[in-house]
Amino acid sequence: MCGIVGYVGHRDCADVLLDSLSKLEYRGYDSAGIAVFENDKIITEKTKGALKNLKDKLGDGHKPKGVCGIGHTRWATHGEPSDTNSHPHGSAKVSIVHNGIIENYIDIKNFLIDKGYEFASETDTETVAKLLDYYYDGNPVETIKRVLSEVKGAYGLGIIFADFKDTIYAVRKDSPLIVGVGKEENFIASDVPAIITYTRDYYLIESDEIVTLTKDNIEICDIHGKQLVKELQHADWDIEAAEKGGFEHFMLKEIHEQPTAFRTTIKPRIMDGMPFIEECGITREMLAGYHKIFIVACGTAMHAGLVGKYIIEKLARVEVTVDIASEFRYRNPVITKEDLVILISQSGETADTKAVLTMAKELGAATLSVVNVKGSSIARESDFVLYTHAGPEISVASTKAYMVQLSVMYLLAFELAYARGVISEDECRKYTSVLEEMPEKINEVLKLKDRCQFIASRLVNSQSLLYIGRGLDYALSMEGSLKLKEISYIHSEAYASGELKHGTISLVTEEMPVIAVATQSDLLEKTISNVKEVKARGGKVSMICSEKVDVDKEIANHLIKLPDVEDLFMPILAIVPLQFIAYYTSVLKGCDVDKPRNLAKSVTVE
Ligand code: G6P
Repeated sequence: MCGIVGYVGHRDCADVLLDSLSKLEYRGYDSAGIAVFENDKIITEKTKGALKNLKDKLGDGHKPKGVCGIGHTRWATHGEPSDTNSHPHGSAKVSIVHNGIIENYIDIKNFLIDKGYEFASETDTETVAKLLDYYYDGNPVETIKRVLSEVKGAYGLGIIFADFKDTIYAVRKDSPLIVGVGKEENFIASDVPAIITYTRDYYLIESDEIVTLTKDNIEICDIHGKQLVKELQHADWDIEAAEKGGFEHFMLKEIHEQPTAFRTTIKPRIMDGMPFIEECGITREMLAGYHKIFIVACGTAMHAGLVGKYIIEKLARVEVTVDIASEFRYRNPVITKEDLVILISQSGETADTKAVLTMAKELGAATLSVVNVKGSSIARESDFVLYTHAGPEISVASTKAYMVQLSVMYLLAFELAYARGVISEDECRKYTSVLEEMPEKINEVLKLKDRCQFIASRLVNSQSLLYIGRGLDYALSMEGSLKLKEISYIHSEAYASGELKHGTISLVTEEMPVIAVATQSDLLEKTISNVKEVKARGGKVSMICSEKVDVDKEIANHLIKLPDVEDLFMPILAIVPLQFIAYYTSVLKGCDVDKPRNLAKSVTVE
């Protein structure tokens, strides 16, 4: 949610900022802007719409020339996307970019209006900029401290003061911030992809730490002014991972990266043929002892949790509930010290998921996070963390992150089942070896993309769609439906097949295509009955099932047959055609696949 960047060094600052922002566009793309020192003066350029608009604008000789500045890509919270509401915001003395929400901005605004200040935008950010202006006394760090003592909310801030033309200041609270370390150049950014073209070395900044950055020096102090020595981090992936690499869209590239991401995630967690997750600190003894398991997440990550629930309950016979974080945090859940709360998050920064983590810790439960971004807040604050190794996921619609979240859910299910004595060592080894074979199977499924493209061509003019399935297939239907909605803007709903006849089947007509996920052999006959009911009412059905089942051609209008694997593992394969169907529908509709309207990849506000 909003991306901030800053550069000080020897290169053309505007070029670096624009390039870095292009790597953060997944965080928001309602508007973009930069502020750069040119001949001792801060020059600000900003515009509504995608970064491309700003690049086009600056292309006609309007690019400020300088070596120090800040930049922003916005996901609007306060005030519609407009040139005026775009960041940076500031005054003659100061300019800032902000990611987060200032909760008490109205009080600050009223205070400043009383002091004679005027406001151009509707943003919360402008109030912080003007408060910095108000308290500025020639000492940037002291001014920042004073302002922070009055500001409530979440922020990652990049700040430049007109009097200090070679220096960037930055601070964060509950919004991510890193400092990139280069040779005679340094960076600030919301996330690693922004700096990876220039350096792989960075510092993770904690809440209430203040950074002072020049081209040769980085100072980080706490809110009391104490200088801090931080551990240098090193990104273990390179720029290719954050580029399209010949694919038309990041989403398509990321779908194809799934076999590798899966393998990379499970490999270090399998030892001598058995699952091995003790590296994160959680022992078999602990796993055997938890009373209840809660899985809490948002969006696609929550859907991975749903698959987790099915397989953990099936194999380990322990009760698992799955919740949407924004609901869970306000419903006073019954969590005890005997329970395990699992948080799943690609970004590790999702505000609601983070709030649940805090709540679970306060209630004394053990917390385990499954996170993709190294050093992110959720990863750092949970008791145990199992990193997924998908590499950077740039497309807003999540694909490979979901896939690796699934892989961890399986390992966890095996480990839990074994630790609790529900499955034998032999059974555990057998499951683990099947999991190791999955990357190859996913590769086979990737070959079905033409078939999925054809099905997408049949869906593209629909107003609405239904996804149906039972059990694990229902969990998959939810994710398939979400993917389609997110990127093609076609309304769709996922329904448990058996529930159809309790109301939703009244929607079925020739105009309402249905995608049936039917990979579970014990439920196949039942799902087929539901599919027949749909067909009898004119519905056009595309069905995803295993190649081992002999489905009568009359049953579905279009069939996608997946390689034969044990039913339990089918979600790992079935998700791929659902991703492709959403992808190609979006492409055929001419939508912006990687940057769907109104969405942001990392949702750091409630
Ligand atoms: C946003 C993204 C989704 C993602 C969800 C949770 O809505 O657009 O793709 O699933 O946030 O994000 P997280 O980073 O916590 O997995």
